[in-house]
Order: sequence, then C-alpha cells, then structure tokens
Amino acid sequence: MVANDAASPLLQVQGLAVTAGGQAIQRGLDFDVRRGEVLVIVGPSGCGKSTLLRHLVGLEQPAAGRVLFDGHDLHRGAEAPRAALRRRFGVMFQAGALWSSMSLGENLMLPMRLFTTLDAAERERRARFKLALVGLDGGFELMPAQLSGGMRKRAALARALALDPELLMLDEPGSGLDPLNAARLDELVLHLRQYLGTTVVMVTHEIASVFAVADRALFLDPQERTMTAIGAPQDLLVHGPAAVRAFLGRADAA
Ligand SMILES: Nc1ncnc2c1ncn2[C@@H]1O[C@H](COP(=O)(O)OP(=O)(O)OP(=O)(O)O)[C@@H](O)[C@H]1O
Ligand SMILES: [Mg+2]
Repeated sequence: MVANDAASPLLQVQGLAVTAGGQAIQRGLDFDVRRGEVLVIVGPSGCGKSTLLRHLVGLEQPAAGRVLFDGHDLHRGAEAPRAALRRRFGVMFQAGALWSSMSLGENLMLPMRLFTTLDAAERERRARFKLALVGLDGGFELMPAQLSGGMRKRAALARALALDPELLMLDEPGSGLDPLNAARLDELVLHLRQYLGTTVVMVTHEIASVFAVADRALFLDPQERTMTAIGAPQDLLVHGPAAVRAFLGRADAA
C-alpha cells in the first residue's frame, strides 16, 4: 500500500456497517473521500449521519467492514498509532460545544497543549491565527457565553482546526443558525478548504448547503438502511435515483 500518494483517497470506507445502541443503522457503505474534496453526507433526521461520522473518526467500532485513513485501518491494530492517526482529523460534533469555563483562546490552545510540544507563545500565536481565520480576530479573551450562536459555531470550527488537520469533519455546522449565517458558515468552510487545503467531510440535511459546498454528496436512506447515491449534486439532480432527485429538486422550488 502506498500511503501519501497524492492520487490515493484520503479516506476509504469499505463494506462498513454501523450500529447505535445495539441497533443496525446503516450497512454496505462503500465510498472514498478524495484528497482536497468537500464530501457532504446527506439524509433525513435519524438516518445515521452522526453515527457514521463517529465511526469515520474512529470513536466507534464498526459492526462490519473497515475505514482506512491514508491507507491505515482506523479500528484495528495497536492503540498508539491509531490515536496518532485520529490526531490528523479535526472534528466538530453536532452539539459543537466549547468548554464553557475557558476563553476561546484557551479552548483552542488546550488540544495543542495536550498533543503537541509547542511552547506557550507559539500556542497563543496559532490560536489567534485560527480565530482570525474564522473572523473572530478579537475573540481570544472572550468566554463562550459572550458569543452569539453563529460566533460559537465559528469558534468551534476554529477549535477543530487547532491541530492543522488534514481532514476536517463537521456535523451540521449550520444547524441552529438563520439562513444568512448558515450560508456564511458554508462560505467559511469553502474558504478554509481553499486556504488551508483541508479535505472536508460535512454532514447536513440542508439542500442549500449541499449545492453551496459539496464537490460530491453521499445520500443515506433510512428505509433502505444504506447509501443510495454518491456524486456531484448537479449530476445527482439529473441522473440520481428518484428519491435523491426529488430531495435535491426541492432546492429549485425553495
Ligand atoms: N446511543 C444510542 N442508542 C440508541 N439509539 C441511538 C443512539 N444513538 C443514535 N441512535 C439512533 O440511531 C439512529 C441514527 O441516529 P443519528 O444520530 O446517527 O442520526 P442523524 O442522521 O445524525 O440524525 P439528525 O439529522 O437528527 O442529527 C436514530 O434512529 C437514533 O435514534
Ligand atoms: Mg446527527
């Protein structure tokens, strides 16, 4: 296996079956995440998007199949090398919580303190830089409670970027935001991808987000309990299965 080959996928999902609370949620998942792409995971509430994401970041063991990151199995083998792999991801979970007792700066510097040998001055410099990237230049000293919902989402995004991840995984980053702020967050994700070269996997159920950010979209179906399509949104709108065309087509009506 040739790791770090620019042409090889960054993430490979092979025959994956996922469970939550002992229940089979999705099975037969086969797809790649290509280097530098934005792959969006789409499906109705409860279909298993967050469950899949938790498996993709190595937090949960698959019921079947495997996930390879840069050619390495995320779920099998010694713990130390797998933990090292997981440190190459930045993750923003659906709840998106910041530590409420810490300032934004401290929220960003904590992972650096835990997982790097950077000194305090360098940790602060990098935290300020990441906050500036998400438009929170002056936010270093602020406490999470002082932020609006949209600012909190951007701060959580900055924290996911703290360790310069190769792969950024975002679970509904726009949820709870008004459409304007949700659209701004989509733009920010594209900007970060362009500026930092980060590969992005983003969960959403917003059609507008799919068309705004996705190079490709992966559709999970709650009844079939498996993926029903993967491809560029514009292609799926024309050539996808009927349910996927109907879902994407609602964007035109909106
Ligand atoms: N810990 C758990 N115990 C039991 N069932 C669970 C657990 N976590 C999730 N589930 C169930 O698994 C299914 C998938 O949940 P999941 O959170 O992955 O859906 P989702 O697609 O992310 O939904 P949403 O769009 O609402 O965030 C749901 O039916 C949910 O009730
Ligand atoms: Mg979810």
